[in-house]
Amino acid sequence: MCSTAALGRATRFLKLTMTVTSDQPRRILLRLQNVDKTFQMGEVKVEALRDVSLEVFAGEFLVMVGPSGSGKTTILNLVGGLDSVTSGRVWFEDREITAFSAAELTRYRRDTVGFVFQFYNLVPNLTALENVMVSTELSREPMDVIEALRLVDMNDRKDHFPSQLSGGEQQRVAIARAMAKNPTLLLCDEPTGALDFATGKRVLRILVDLKQQLGRTVILITHNAAIAQVADRVVRLRSGQIVELHDNPQPLPPEDVVW
Ligand SMILES: Nc1ncnc2c1ncn2[C@@H]1O[C@H](COP(=O)(O)OP(=O)(O)OP(=O)(O)O)[C@@H](O)[C@H]1O
Ligand SMILES: [Mg+2]
Repeated sequence: MCSTAALGRATRFLKLTMTVTSDQPRRILLRLQNVDKTFQMGEVKVEALRDVSLEVFAGEFLVMVGPSGSGKTTILNLVGGLDSVTSGRVWFEDREITAFSAAELTRYRRDTVGFVFQFYNLVPNLTALENVMVSTELSREPMDVIEALRLVDMNDRKDHFPSQLSGGEQQRVAIARAMAKNPTLLLCDEPTGALDFATGKRVLRILVDLKQQLGRTVILITHNAAIAQVADRVVRLRSGQIVELHDNPQPLPPEDVVW
């Protein structure tokens, strides 16, 4: 038999982890609650985020758009465990990231989150293969390194150094590096920002496939409003606040996006 207290706890847990839509429940993977982030630079105080609350669902492709300085990277850094909130709380599933010890935060970053940056951040004196291996050596349940390179169609360039690869190829290696850790959550900060149109679309296709075929949750930041058309949901930020959040019931295939 279920006690009233236990039922109350179960209901609170369900409210925390599930939200019900018209067709099926969506599991909440990440939750930000009333998050503020202020940077103090000497006399100057920058309010990068103001009272941000947001839920991210498991297996969705969420795109964040907004002008420069609106707080997009700050949000990504907070949910990725790279920075700490000034106030408010952040949960990953039922675990509160904002209450993690330094060791728990390191484990979370290492095992749960993959990062893809605008300028790839590959180690220049390591080959493509070695760049990917570095991330698998630190992780608990890594993917096979060759398999990760195959996902982005870079296995035949595995022995090349970053300087021998084009921007798009380097970004594909960077995605392989992020994926090789087998992360639940993939955080991408302007992953197509340094790429030409065709290469940008190819990289977007890889990210969409990671969501559709491997069930990963992807959060992608962009300046480019056209890219938001591939998202399941779009968050618009302005001056550190969420000013719009909408569903995109029919995401466009990356191949059909024009910018
Ligand atoms: N480490 C920091 N120290 C001081 N101020 C910071 C720091 N990081 C970010 N900021 C400030 O916080 C605000 C939000 O920055 P953030 O990097 O999140 O913007 P963004 O939306 O990612 O912009 P962009 O599109 O240019 O990358 C900006 O005013 C920025 O100057
Ligand atoms: Mg940014």
